[in-house]
Amino acid sequence: MPHDLSLPPHWRWFPESRFGMFIHWGPYAQYGRGEQILFREHLDQAEYERRACAWNPQHYDPAHWARVAQDAGMKYAVLTTRHHDGYCLWDSQVTDYTSVQQTPKRDFVAGYVEAFRAAGLRVGLYYSLADWRIPAYWDGPAVDPEGWATFRAYVHAQVRELLTNYGKIDVIWFDGAWPQTAADWKSAELVEMMRSLQPEILINNRLGADKEGDAAAGVVPSTGRSRHLGDFGTPEHEIRAEDRLWESCQVTTWRLWGYTTGERWRPADLLLDMLVESAGKGGNLLLNVGPDAEGRLPAEFEDRMAQIGAWMRIHGEAIYGVEAGDVCEFITYGRQTRKGNNLYLIVRFWDTNGEINLGGLATPVLRATLLTTGAEVPFTQSEDHVLIGGLPAVAPTDLFPVIRLECDDPPRPRPWAKDRLWGGDPRRMTGWAGKRGQSVWTAAP
Ligand code: GLC
Repeated sequence: MPHDLSLPPHWRWFPESRFGMFIHWGPYAQYGRGEQILFREHLDQAEYERRACAWNPQHYDPAHWARVAQDAGMKYAVLTTRHHDGYCLWDSQVTDYTSVQQTPKRDFVAGYVEAFRAAGLRVGLYYSLADWRIPAYWDGPAVDPEGWATFRAYVHAQVRELLTNYGKIDVIWFDGAWPQTAADWKSAELVEMMRSLQPEILINNRLGADKEGDAAAGVVPSTGRSRHLGDFGTPEHEIRAEDRLWESCQVTTWRLWGYTTGERWRPADLLLDMLVESAGKGGNLLLNVGPDAEGRLPAEFEDRMAQIGAWMRIHGEAIYGVEAGDVCEFITYGRQTRKGNNLYLIVRFWDTNGEINLGGLATPVLRATLLTTGAEVPFTQSEDHVLIGGLPAVAPTDLFPVIRLECDDPPRPRPWAKDRLWGGDPRRMTGWAGKRGQSVWTAAP
C-alpha cells in the first residue's frame, strides 16, 4: 500500500523517517539490571521507592542525546515518561513520585522535548498504563472496581498532563495495558481526549486488547495490543510487517531496555540490518538506548550510532521514505528497498568477483549506480536477470554497500519472482524445472 497516498499529510513524516531512538531512563538505571528489576527481582516496594526518590542524576544532557540521535540519522525519539515502576520524569500534579518533587528537582520530559525539537527531531512520549506499586492495578476492575476506577482516573489525568503541558507531541507510545482490555482502561475515551488535545498525534496500538475483536484480527488479547485502537503497530524484538503503519522496537543489547552493566552489545552491522529489514518491509525501526543512572549514553551505543550515521549520510535515500522493497529474490546478497522508480540493493554479502546477479526483475533498468562511491556501474539485463558489473573486489564500506537501480517504471517482479522460496504457487516454477527435463537422471550424455 503506497503509504504516501493513503496517509493524512500530518502523518507522512513517520514513514519518511523510518528510524527513531527509543530511550528507557528512570531510577531503575541505578541498579544496572534493566527497567523491570522491581518486578523481576521482587524487590521491596518501599525500599525501591526510597532509592528512587533519592535518585539524582548529575549528567542529564538531552542536547547530547539529541545530537547522537541526529548524527545517527534518526528523525524522531520516544522517551519513557513513566515506566511500570510508577516514577514520573515530569511535573505531574497527581503524584509526588516525580523527578520535579523528589531529589533531582528537574522536569526531564521538558528538557527532552526542548532539546530534541531544537535538533529538528520529532518527539514521542512513552507512558506505561501499568503502575506496579498500586494493588488495584493487579486486582483489576472485576475484583476492585472502586480502586480500579481511581487508578484509571490517575492514568487518564497523567496522559492529559503530558499532552497539555509540553507543546506539540508527535507520538504517544503506550505500554503496560496487560492484562486488562481496552474497555477496562476506557481507552476509547482516552483516544478521544488525546485527539482533542493533539489532533495530529500518532498513537500506538498498546491500549488494551478488545477481547472480542482482536483475537479475530490476529491480535493475542494477552499482549494488550489492539487491532482497532491506535494508529500504528509495534512488533517488539521482531520485524513483522502489518497492513498499516508499523514500527519494530528493538534493543541494542541482549534483551533489556533499561541500563544494564556488563552488557553484551549487538554489532553495528546487525543493528543496521534491523533498520534495513524494517524499511525493506515497509516499516520503521525504533532502536533503544538505556542511559546510565547519571544520564550518560553508554559509549558502546554512541560508537555504533556513529557508524550507522556515517552510513546513513551516504545511503539514507535507500531508507528514508522507502516502501516495502521486497521486489524479487535477493537474500543471497542482502536486502532491497524501493522508492518510486528506484530499487535499492543493500548488499550484506559482498563477494569479490566484481559482479552481482539480480534475478526476477521485470522492469527495464535505465541506470545502475554504486551509491557508496557515487560511481555509475555497467549492467546487462535479460528477461530474468540483471547482471551488474564493474564492482570493486573489496567492499567500499565496512557496513553495507548499496546499488541504486533506476528503472523506467516502479520496479516489479517477473511472475515467477513475486513470491519467495516456500511461498506462493509452487507451479510457477514447473517450467523452470522442465527446461532440464523430467528424469531424475542427469541430462548429461
Ligand atoms: C516490554 C517491556 C517494557 C518495555 C517495552 C518496550 O513491554 O515490558 O519494559 O518498555 O517492552 O516495547
